[in-house]
Amino acid sequence: MTRFDGMFTGGVISAVISGRRKGSESRVKQVRVRPFEKKGQTLYQFTFTLPDREIHENLEPAAAAERVDSLLRGEFTQAVIYTSEADWHAVSMGKLRLHKKPPTKKPAELTHDRKKPRILEEGVPHDFLVKLGVMTPDGKVKRDRYDKFRQINRYLELAAGSVPKPEGRPVRIIDFGCGKAYLTFAMYYYLRNILKIECEMTGLDLKRDVVEFCEGTARALGYDGLRFSAGDISDWEESGTVDMVVTLHACDTATDAAIAKAVGWGAPVIMTVPCCQHELFYQINSEVQHPLLRHGILRERTAALVTDAARAQLLESVGYKVDVMEFVDMEHTPKNIMIRAIRKNGVKYDEKAFEEYKSFRDSWGVQPCLERLMFGGEERETEA
Ligand SMILES: C[S@@+](CC[C@H](N)C(=O)[O-])C[C@H]1O[C@@H](n2cnc3c(N)ncnc32)[C@H](O)[C@@H]1O
Repeated sequence: MTRFDGMFTGGVISAVISGRRKGSESRVKQVRVRPFEKKGQTLYQFTFTLPDREIHENLEPAAAAERVDSLLRGEFTQAVIYTSEADWHAVSMGKLRLHKKPPTKKPAELTHDRKKPRILEEGVPHDFLVKLGVMTPDGKVKRDRYDKFRQINRYLELAAGSVPKPEGRPVRIIDFGCGKAYLTFAMYYYLRNILKIECEMTGLDLKRDVVEFCEGTARALGYDGLRFSAGDISDWEESGTVDMVVTLHACDTATDAAIAKAVGWGAPVIMTVPCCQHELFYQINSEVQHPLLRHGILRERTAALVTDAARAQLLESVGYKVDVMEFVDMEHTPKNIMIRAIRKNGVKYDEKAFEEYKSFRDSWGVQPCLERLMFGGEERETEA
């Protein structure tokens, strides 16, 4: 316990630690401290300024208080700590003294992982989020579920302007590889309760027990029009129109199966956030790219980027306008690419886009399965 604990747990606006002690061998000239928010928790970033660079350290409030205390007992002689209650001037010459002065700073909005308004707000107990264990009954997002909460909000943000609105009937949406169906429930809830759009939503997954749980939850919540089925994406047949296909982290080539189904049905909107991608890792081969491909980690990332670029280009070649966007910050999940494809009116095939695709895939020496799935199993001609 130090004299700075109360300040840091109560909320420090910023702090500067300076005045290198005579004889100190430290190269750090000063240390600046600022708060930021991560997963709903306030942390403090310490920036150590050296002659040639800066070093950052992120600490929880108690550790931050201890760090300030040890810096003042070690290499530095003074600090100013700004809180909304007071400006605290600390002087450490033999003894550590604190002087309280009237506050001169107002709390700034926390940056770094700043809270932005979300479609599904925190503090409001949304029934499905409580049932799925993301929120407590009073609407607080559970800390270990924060990434999921952020992901579904971001997904809804990106989907907001793209949901088709068919005339005279509900919009029909399928979530392939829905898992525990956070996204499926969220989309249904968003369309029905916030946008007031009638929708029929299906979640499909291989796991029978998970599907039973989701089906039971949907019935318990009275979510008419939300159904779950167990099965494989590749075997799924639809008799009616499908307006939109969504996926969130459907494993490996399950994403391709979903895209191929959506394209086959002529779905006007496809939104997919791919997951792990193994298929091209083993295929990818390019002599000129050897320096990139010989390192496992670089090979893995390149294979993932090539996979997504091929998916986007194939979608372009069958008449979709495609955007590839950042889904959520890399910091929260490395699976952070969203491919959003909107079918262009009257365009069924774009030869130029397909020619580009072929050159691209051949330059990497790969045969993505999406091509086979989309074009009925035929191997497309490979350029010499
Ligand atoms: C990583 S989980 C993601 C679940 C959910 N979309 C989410 O983001 O929370 C991937 C899910 O895809 C399902 N899956 C994988 N391959 C599938 C296939 N061929 N057909 C149906 N579901 C599949 C798995 O069972 C798993 O539940």
